[in-house]
Amino acid sequence: MITTIYWDQDAVVILDQNELPAQIKYIRCEDYHALVRAIKTLQVRGAPLIGVAAAYGLALAVWTSREESAALEDYYLRVEQDFAASRPTAVNLFWAIRRMRSVFDQCKGQNRAAIARSLLNEADKILAEDLAINQRIGDIGARLFKEKVRVMTICNAGALATGGYGTALGVIRSIHKNGNLQQVWACETRPVLQGARLTVWELSQDQIPVTLITDNMAAYVMSRGEVDAVIVGADRIAVNGDTANKIGTYGLAVLAAYHKIPFYVAAPMSTVDFNMDAGQKIPIEERNHDEVRQIRGMYVTLPEVKVYNPAFDITPGELLTAVVTETGIIRPPFFRTDI
Ligand code: MRU
Repeated sequence: MITTIYWDQDAVVILDQNELPAQIKYIRCEDYHALVRAIKTLQVRGAPLIGVAAAYGLALAVWTSREESAALEDYYLRVEQDFAASRPTAVNLFWAIRRMRSVFDQCKGQNRAAIARSLLNEADKILAEDLAINQRIGDIGARLFKEKVRVMTICNAGALATGGYGTALGVIRSIHKNGNLQQVWACETRPVLQGARLTVWELSQDQIPVTLITDNMAAYVMSRGEVDAVIVGADRIAVNGDTANKIGTYGLAVLAAYHKIPFYVAAPMSTVDFNMDAGQKIPIEERNHDEVRQIRGMYVTLPEVKVYNPAFDITPGELLTAVVTETGIIRPPFFRTDI
């Protein structure tokens, strides 16, 4: 399985996902700013992996710092703010920052080197736990399917987007392992093509049968009865099931409902934002307009055309059949505890 991130003597090494599938290129981040940049530019991406990267980044920041005591605390706060400002939608980022903060706070009174070691330890734990969680999500989700299925997905919610195995692609991997996968329909996922570049590559590496379509082909493929389920990942899930995920997910959910195809979100519990009752308040990142004007760096329209480029959309919980988590299959009313 492909390694997306690891610690290597005084640095965090990441797989540069912008180079895939043309080349497998790793980058050494020797200061935390490089990791913040990597998150912003999608070299490291996918909600759980953004959380893992921020955890390693916080450890790296303390590891490479010269500050001690109160100055170290002020510095750590600034580093947290830099990571928090990198991408607003995936709640796993804020979850990881909080988890690292509790380790930092527990280390009060220790010297910088000891704090750095504890933070690095915690980042390693977050990474290892994420892999185990995804394997569990995969196995739980795969139990939903008792016969051969054709599954549609969007973006990349795979090993590349997580600590390994993947969420939506984790379920797909486990269905395949059980012998119940006929094939995957991968939507290309404009503007940045995570489906075409990453999902197709990742599934092909594991010999999982995949067919690529452009995003506007999904309705037609469904109408022909060629999709048995849609499985997607999530960047943030509100208590009522409203789900922020890659732009285009909402459209797929509407189409799935019309064609009576089950629509599943696969995500770790760290993607559920228990402070958010409903999806309207989930911050949606708007990215650089050239992502829409260009494809892989080449203008496909007028360079000055006005553009709107939301990176995510919100699928209403009512369109979800269920959320597959490491704790089990959660059905409506999803995460509400008041009933
Ligand atoms: O902009 P990206 O590539 O970070 O968007 C990723 C997605 O939307 C994924 O579906 C989501 O983060 C879940 S990854 C397991």
